[in-house]
Amino acid sequence: MNVVLLGPPGAGKGTHAAVLAREFQIPHISTGDIFREEMKAGTKLGKLAQSYIDDGHLVPDEVVVKIVAERLKRPDARKGFILDGFPRTIPQAVQFAEILAAAGRKLDAVIYLETPPEASIQRLSGRRVCRKCGANFHVENIPPRKEGVCDRCGGELYQREDDRPEAIRERFKEYQAKTEGLVAFYRDQGMLTTVDAGVPRERTLAELQSLFRRLG
Ligand code: AP5
Repeated sequence: MNVVLLGPPGAGKGTHAAVLAREFQIPHISTGDIFREEMKAGTKLGKLAQSYIDDGHLVPDEVVVKIVAERLKRPDARKGFILDGFPRTIPQAVQFAEILAAAGRKLDAVIYLETPPEASIQRLSGRRVCRKCGANFHVENIPPRKEGVCDRCGGELYQREDDRPEAIRERFKEYQAKTEGLVAFYRDQGMLTTVDAGVPRERTLAELQSLFRRLG
């Protein structure tokens, strides 16, 4: 099962991908998470990525494409993947198709998590992330049992630098300018399935689970 989750910042791509990956036993590959790991480790790639991410800009295509191409070669991705946050521009999508074709693979579905901007903004501004295990919470929608502490591992919860209001504004500008066009790009290829992600997450998840069962 080779699936891409597409959607604006705060659509719930990471939240749903984590659950689906566990249930369907395929890796959840988030380019955002890969960059955040590199940033945390202070690597050269992490420093480069941070100079774009913290202000809400996209990391250059050539950097992202190389990382995804390498990640897809790992054994766990042979039986499938859920890509979250990639591709994010038309050039990335074109190069991604070439990478898959060269490996004799193809995409099974691109799932567009359609979300009203107001819902996305509300979700991002209240999001808290665990420093240790990366689990996502929301101060109102998905509060941790104890404020500031991860339910799963007891790690400290923090607010992402790019969840500041100015960075959120910039991320939406980038999304509209560079990513939104992918909806038509994949629709024209007959690959797009749209799921309503502006509703409570249990409803979106149930729809995604039934889609995955049909694909599997
Ligand atoms: P990335 O981490 O991918 O950021 P994003 O796409 O902006 O997505 P988010 O993680 O903010 O949102 P999400 O849709 O995963 O929502 P989530 O599940 O967390 O990328 C970060 C940066 O890296 C980019 O800005 C860019 O600079 C760079 N980058 C990454 N990939 C790149 C690429 N391919 N090319 C270039 N640059 C790249 O949910 C959000 C919150 O809402 C959570 O708190 C969650 O608990 C809550 N929530 C989720 N669903 C619901 C619901 N239905 N109801 C209520 N609350 C909900």
